[in-house]
Amino acid sequence: MAGKIPEEVIEQIRTQSDIVDVISEYMQLTKRGRNWFGLCPFHGEQTPSFSVSIDKQIFHCFGCGAGGNAITFVMDIENISFPDAVVKLGERAGIHLDIQPSMPELMKTVSKTEERMKEAHAFAADFFQHLLLNTEDGEEALNYLLERGFTRELIESNNIGWSLQSFDALTILLERKGYNLQEISESGLIIKREGEERYFDRFRGRIMFPIRDENGKIIAFSGRILSSTGEEAKYLNSPESPIFHKSEVLYNLDRARTSVRKNRQVILMEGFMDVLAASSAGITNAVATMGTSLTSQHITKLKRLVEQVTICYDGDHAGFDAAKRAAELLQAERMNVNIAVLPDKLDPDEYIRSQGGQAFKEQILENPHAYIAFMMMHARRNKNFQFENDTLQYIQEVLEQLVGRSSPVERDLYIRQLSNETNVSEEAIYAQFRKLEASKVRSVKTEVQKQALPLMPVTQQQKPMDAAERAERLLLAHMLHNIDVVDRVLRSEQKEPFVRDAYMAVFVRLIGFYEEFGHPDYQRFVEVLDDPELRKIVMEASLVERDPDQAEAEVTDSLRQLQKYRIEQEINEKMHESKEAEKMHEYARALEIAQQIIHLRKSLSAI
Ligand code: UTP
Ligand code: MN
Repeated sequence: MAGKIPEEVIEQIRTQSDIVDVISEYMQLTKRGRNWFGLCPFHGEQTPSFSVSIDKQIFHCFGCGAGGNAITFVMDIENISFPDAVVKLGERAGIHLDIQPSMPELMKTVSKTEERMKEAHAFAADFFQHLLLNTEDGEEALNYLLERGFTRELIESNNIGWSLQSFDALTILLERKGYNLQEISESGLIIKREGEERYFDRFRGRIMFPIRDENGKIIAFSGRILSSTGEEAKYLNSPESPIFHKSEVLYNLDRARTSVRKNRQVILMEGFMDVLAASSAGITNAVATMGTSLTSQHITKLKRLVEQVTICYDGDHAGFDAAKRAAELLQAERMNVNIAVLPDKLDPDEYIRSQGGQAFKEQILENPHAYIAFMMMHARRNKNFQFENDTLQYIQEVLEQLVGRSSPVERDLYIRQLSNETNVSEEAIYAQFRKLEASKVRSVKTEVQKQALPLMPVTQQQKPMDAAERAERLLLAHMLHNIDVVDRVLRSEQKEPFVRDAYMAVFVRLIGFYEEFGHPDYQRFVEVLDDPELRKIVMEASLVERDPDQAEAEVTDSLRQLQKYRIEQEINEKMHESKEAEKMHEYARALEIAQQIIHLRKSLSAI
């Protein structure tokens, strides 16, 4: 079917999908007063801060800020697009929509620019693959891959290719296909050199590995040089772009998802080469970060799918340390973590190539270290128990891991092991453990007090930002309920009313929304936002107490606060500059800056 889902149908499905019923299908909710509560499925927690309001038909988590309505809940928890969520809820309500999920033309909500960028990436991948498989230029690269154990099937199913040494082979083709080169350059596929009017291919003479998003669309490339000369980076990745956010992407997540769910386990690796090697060995539930360390966004994605993560990083020192950091983050988010350790500084790909996939499965993946056992191993490294300092340090590091993270049985087990290893008595180690535990309880308590008493004095530096944050939220709240506020800002001189980028992004989308829909409907608005972070901002703003009768005054005040904040920022920067200038003995410049500061201060008091 073509076109989008009619608004009336969306409305009908929304009214027939009671939010409590829908959410209850995914998690346990208990009623308290007029609202329902539960443990937030979007972040790890033990006290329920996730609440659902029947009256407003929205959910909100006070812990992580997640929020939305029944449709966006399904989008978030299932990790699916708006049309797919509508279809799903439609089925549930007995309204059958005769559409195929995930058809590109349905993704009305996805920005057209991003769509064209992804199209260009798909086109480029086909071109690169053709060069690799069918041309003389690609022969050397193809032989390299085959020697590395890549089969033709693996190459084809992953769209692997080769980019020519040429400066503009791809650029010329893209231009001929009618792509706007300026737009495509923002996706990182081609680049414009400073001072020149021409565009060039970013990737030249590299084996091209496409990186897909969760929906299987190519959003970036990683290009490997053929033979390492030591001069160039081994891998060149696409830069951050509107379609590629490194801190969010997990390589292969689109294909691994089903297998991850089925195996109730995900395997986390450091390099996409490792994931490809694993997949050729029949291991289909592996993903990798894209040359960055693990972030909370990565973890949120994994958490929606599974609880159990097996980290399988490189066997060298760097891999060992990275595994420790990743394990701590995952553990802090209450996921079950274990760590499969590779011998001889090998990476998974090298191990699979030398020992085979079967051995990798049986010896490595099926024999992981439990979290604390791994931490002990890590802490033991480079320590000599002949030395008292090393011994004490070791005991301290392990006990810190044990506090709050282990069951009594585990505690017993590991303390006994500690005692055996170090020859320090179990009693003494227990005493130390209790001391640590007590200090931890104290620090948790003060944390809680801080949260419970927002009026407690905050440090000087935080204050202005807090005021600006509140102003931003209030301003957005008014914009969400009143189209005139947006108009007013657009007509004013302050064309970028918000300070934070994410708020500006919401603002821009809101303008687009009002152009299309013509009236305020923040519930509908959150549905057209594809980024959960932006949805969070909208939902938080929608919950803000605002006074519709005082709208004019509140908006004026917020705008003023934000302008004040901006000027204060500018003053801070200038002060810094002036200090720098003084340090360099550039007194004339310092004086000039000082005058600018006076000027800014004046305009500040005029606000
Ligand atoms: P590795 O250096 O471990 O690469 O980097 P690898 O996966 O073993 O690759 P081969 O076997 O030598 O071909 C791990 C990951 O770090 C990123 C890449 O994402 C890579 O998969 N990386 C590495 C870069 O982004 N740039 C580099 O120059 C090197
Ligand atoms: Mn490798």
